[in-house]
Amino acid sequence: MKFFIDTADVAEIRDLAATGLVDGVTTNPSLVAKSGRPIADVIAEICDVVPGPVSAEVTATDHAGMLKEARFLASIAKNIAIKVPLTVDGLRTCKVLSDGGTPVNVTLCFSAAQALLAAKAGASYVSPFVGRLDDIGAVGMDLIAEIVEIYAAYDFKTAVLVASVRGPQHVIEAAKLGADVATIPPAVLRQMYKHPLTDKGLEAFLADWAKTGQSILGQA
Ligand code: E4P
Repeated sequence: MKFFIDTADVAEIRDLAATGLVDGVTTNPSLVAKSGRPIADVIAEICDVVPGPVSAEVTATDHAGMLKEARFLASIAKNIAIKVPLTVDGLRTCKVLSDGGTPVNVTLCFSAAQALLAAKAGASYVSPFVGRLDDIGAVGMDLIAEIVEIYAAYDFKTAVLVASVRGPQHVIEAAKLGADVATIPPAVLRQMYKHPLTDKGLEAFLADWAKTGQSILGQA
């Protein structure tokens, strides 16, 4: 399973990329707006830090406008994936870009029917938003199960990229269902390291070790 980081905060990405566990990055217009920086600068910097795919989203809503924006965004770096919304124009744009060899991430997916269309449009990634479905009383993970089943039945190459992740449990459930990627907010990725028994166990080991007066490197 691949881990992408869901942020446009370059300092956070740099910090987490140093762990060696970051396979890519996803951004969206809200995350870029939050960074307060020009999109071309932010995306270029992220692409320098992370060699994996970096999703940059178009903001035009018509096919011609989306294509123009996509071509500009794709020119920023070699590892860009163009993000388009799951609309008629978005999927038309996805088909043209995918046929031309540009990876596309189809975002704002909330149903299996939409995910089926994204796969047929040649998307490299489909992004179902589990947290936002949970927010309205649906079960976001049920959608992941449906998409994984449908894609397997037809051997679609589109990767299931679980988005709108709100906590470590979403990542675990996505992994159990065989999702290809989870895009994880930095705070959630940090939470995944934590367990109180790890902290307690380490504290006890170090206390016992201190009593010996030994130092490992003192014996090298
Ligand atoms: C990812 O591609 C999406 O932009 C992101 O996961 C949305 O998450 P949110 O629902 O927390 O805004």
